[in-house]
Amino acid sequence: MLSKIAVYLSEDFINMTTLIINIKELLQVENMPKTMVCGLAMKVLPTIKNAFLLIEDEIILDFGKMEDLPKIKVDKTIDVTGKMVLPTWCDSHTHIVYAGNREQEFIDRINGLSYEEIANNGGGILNSAIKLQQTSEEDLYQQSAKRIEEIMKLGTGAVEIKSGYGLTIEAEIKMLRVIKKLNENYPITIKSTFLGAHALPSEFKNNKSGYLDKVIDEILPLVAKEHLAEYIDVFCETGYFSVDDTDRLLKAGVTYGLIPKIHVNQFTAIGGVQVGVKHKALSVDHLELMRDEDIEVLKNTCTMPVALPSCSYFLSIPYAPARKMIDAGLPLALATDYNPGSTPSGNMNFVISTACIKMKMTPEEAINAATINGAYAMGLEKTHGSICKGKKTNFMITKEIPSYGFLPYSFGNSHIDKVFIEGKEI
Ligand code: NIG
Ligand code: FE
Repeated sequence: MLSKIAVYLSEDFINMTTLIINIKELLQVENMPKTMVCGLAMKVLPTIKNAFLLIEDEIILDFGKMEDLPKIKVDKTIDVTGKMVLPTWCDSHTHIVYAGNREQEFIDRINGLSYEEIANNGGGILNSAIKLQQTSEEDLYQQSAKRIEEIMKLGTGAVEIKSGYGLTIEAEIKMLRVIKKLNENYPITIKSTFLGAHALPSEFKNNKSGYLDKVIDEILPLVAKEHLAEYIDVFCETGYFSVDDTDRLLKAGVTYGLIPKIHVNQFTAIGGVQVGVKHKALSVDHLELMRDEDIEVLKNTCTMPVALPSCSYFLSIPYAPARKMIDAGLPLALATDYNPGSTPSGNMNFVISTACIKMKMTPEEAINAATINGAYAMGLEKTHGSICKGKKTNFMITKEIPSYGFLPYSFGNSHIDKVFIEGKEI
């Protein structure tokens, strides 16, 4: 009995303090927590050179200049001379829970077929849906857990995951239960989104309203009853779901307490941004094709625009016009879109490099977009996205690098030495 108490005392009840010293530069520090950064402010990345960071288990206790380091007794000290520390990435748009892969479609595209042609031939999302329907919940969990472990090592500390490869009641619920289980079993914070309207299943090929009825009247109530999702998403796109369909789905989702976060303007601009803003979407994502009126309608709203440059890279489609959006005063978040069809990569470091190289974002803008703005796009800005007293101990230590601009500049290489999520070294 006594020894059991001793174990509890040492492992569960005694808080563990860790002090990180001699940080070459501590990035994205905040004294007054912000909700997001917009426009010109995105060019500013607050940092402290020659800094310390003090953490206690899951919470950031203090940070500052080494010369101001208070005399305190801590359990552990880590000297990171020559290295930088920054908050972990906040990846606000993924489809990480999927079964199998689609490399054959990748090869078909190399040989000349378009993404649209592949989808019209029964490939694409429907291909993933068949695979997922035939996969057991346990197998789906194991496949997805590997991807979660992979992205944590790449520096992601919070992630959103969508359903939408199920497209039947059973398979959508299976996906959402896997997301819930991943959130319970890993230190990374996971937000869940119901994307029942991702594609029209072949059995509803000529009956779109029948499928919408099913999503709204059968799947959505179950999702809400089991608290399986916080957000509702729709693939609002020509050939998928129209603006009117999206309007109907979002209205229904909101009735059940779900917040909209939607796919819009990936291939065509049909008014998806407007319907998102109308329903106070937390974010509108993709935005590869933005008309002036789409940028205009986002001004002074609570909706975060989210760009997914790895998707543009992989599909060779236009990049979201980040410069135009930020220069118009909008905020912007960056996410991976990790999925088997349009972005088989969950690497936020690549996203940041690509945003700088292809979208002409500065390193400061890209880091803001991938941390605090990504946190906002998941409703996590109070706990994630910056180095701030009271926020979670989610941070990474880089290898020795000359400056933080080196992170996006030296693309394709790993510059991360250690990742901590909720105080745990990954
Ligand atoms: O965000 N655009 C819609 N959905 C995913 C891709 C789906 C797929 O091809 O499997 C996306 O790109
Ligand atoms: Fe997506």
